[in-house]
This record gives sequence, structure tokens and C-alpha cells, in this order.
Amino acid sequence: MKTTKLAMLVLTIAVALFILIPSLSWADDGATVYKKCAACHGVDGAGKPAAKIPSLISDEAKKMSDADMAKAITEKPKHAGIAKSLTPDQVKMVVSYIRSIQK
Ligand code: HEC
Repeated sequence: MKTTKLAMLVLTIAVALFILIPSLSWADDGATVYKKCAACHGVDGAGKPAAKIPSLISDEAKKMSDADMAKAITEKPKHAGIAKSLTPDQVKMVVSYIRSIQK
């Protein structure tokens, strides 16, 4: 009987972990994705003019369509390293995050 209870406890913990761990990665939102961009474009998206890193919150950036922005993220040679690590969904999330900091 005791072993059954222990087995149930272990099973419960295992199931709880299965439920918890994927949900941690689902918590991967635009702001989390943007952390990868902040090193270059700055936490506030202002870029680094001295290093020729464009602002993502400038009027020009505001005028870019979502599609252009997604294309810049995935296709600019400067993004070669980062683009590979992003799924299409993460690109969409980071674009909407940039829209939110443009306001
Ligand atoms: C290694 C530094 C670096 C990282 C990391 C980086 N960028 Fe960039 N990004 C640049 C540079 C440099 C340019 C300008 C390059 C060019 O125009 O060819 C640029 C251009 C852009 C542009 C086009 C802006 C414009 O006005 O044309 C967008 C949008 C952009 N980055 C978004 C992002 C996003 C989103 C991320 C994170 C997923 C990111 N970048 C990560 C360096 C970086």
C-alpha cells in the first residue's frame, strides 16, 4: 500500500512537471524574444547611431509595415545569427512587441 502511495506521488509530480515546463516555454512572448535584440538595438529600441544600429522606434521604423519589419529581422545579413534561432511565430511576436514600444 505504501509503495502505491509513493508511486502515485511520483506520478503526480511527473505529471505536474510535464504541465509546468512546456507552459514556461509558452511564456515566450515578444518581450522575451526582444531580449536577443536589445544587445544591439537597446532595451528601449533606440538603437546605437554611433555603431550604425538603427532605431526601431524612429518615425521611419514606425512607417515600416509589419511585413517589411519581419523581412528585415529574418533577412538582414546583420541578423544572420539571430534569425536562425527565431521561429516565424517569434518573429511576429517581436514585431508586435516593437509596435508596443513605438507608442
Ligand atoms: C548584432 C547586432 C544586432 C542584433 C542582435 C539585432 N539587430 Fe537588428 N539591426 C542591426 C543592424 C546593424 C541593422 C542595420 C543593418 C542594415 O540595415 O543592413 C539592423 C536593422 C534592423 C531593422 C531594420 C531597421 C530599419 O530602419 O531598416 C529591424 C526592424 C531590426 N534590425 C530588428 C531587429 C530585431 C527584432 C532583432 C531581434 C530579433 C534584431 N534586430 C537584432 C543589428 C542587430
